[in-house]
Amino acid sequence: MTRHFLKDDDITAKEQAVIIDRAIAMKADRFSEKPFAGPQTVAVIFDKTSTRTRVSFAVGISDLGGVPLIIDSGVSQLGKKESVADTAKVLERQVAQIVWRTYAQAGLEEMAANSSVPVINALSDMWHPCQLLADLVTIKECFGKTAGLTLAYVGDANNNMANSYLVACALAGMNVAVSAPSGFLPSDEVVVKAKQIAEANGGSILITTDPAEAVSAADIVVTDTWVSMGMEAEADERKLRFKDFTVDEELMSKASEDAIFLHCLPAYRGLEVSAEVIDGAQSRVWQEAENRLHAQKALMAWLAEQN
Ligand code: CP
Ligand code: NVA
Repeated sequence: MTRHFLKDDDITAKEQAVIIDRAIAMKADRFSEKPFAGPQTVAVIFDKTSTRTRVSFAVGISDLGGVPLIIDSGVSQLGKKESVADTAKVLERQVAQIVWRTYAQAGLEEMAANSSVPVINALSDMWHPCQLLADLVTIKECFGKTAGLTLAYVGDANNNMANSYLVACALAGMNVAVSAPSGFLPSDEVVVKAKQIAEANGGSILITTDPAEAVSAADIVVTDTWVSMGMEAEADERKLRFKDFTVDEELMSKASEDAIFLHCLPAYRGLEVSAEVIDGAQSRVWQEAENRLHAQKALMAWLAEQN
């Protein structure tokens, strides 16, 4: 069976730890591994805009000895004239792996079901698992561990980033506290899954509408845009609903004294985070953005060995 990475728990806790440690090792010796020597080609498909994901996959595939083939959906047949299944059949005969940023998780599942080469989720409406690998690498670099730490997520908790924090951090044995206004809390399905994973790995899950409660004594404070790609029509309403959920210096002061701040980026200063916090001493967002490269290289190298 081909291994894919469509969501955070497509890997075990042990595999996640192996990939995180491998990313840290590869960061220290950037051109040491060449699983795509040949060079083999990796397809990277975008149905949504991107800076970090586009750059880090292109650079990472090159670092690994391969050639990135960036396909913007606007210029391919995918989704308009040709089905996902037929696209998978064409790609699997020519590329080593398929990386796809899209809307519906079902599309990724269909791609994977029809592909003999690994499919990687580069963000869907439901999950952003590559971002979480990079965040966990950053957390391990900053604290020397992941298990036992407390991460607080404040903002839109019914989006891909909140879902991925809940599941990936639970897998890493962390305590996850999520805070959002009512109506923007994670789905029961995601919370139940995260609680089961947390219980099995020594972590815990807290869901609250009080941001101060979530952030209390947290080691890591994170947020994300209030208006994810595809939700633009709700932008004005969301800015009103989320106005008490900005991560500012006052909220950060409730976290642990040596807490760090992370954000997957792009960030909207003055909305989900104040400029003082994201540009301040506790912020690790540029280290986090760089770690997309190292985390995804470790993931791709690891997947190449599983299949
Ligand atoms: N964090 C992230 O995925 O950024 P991009 O949307 O720029 O790829
Ligand atoms: N939740 C955001 C993440 C961007 C990297 C979005 O989906 O737009």
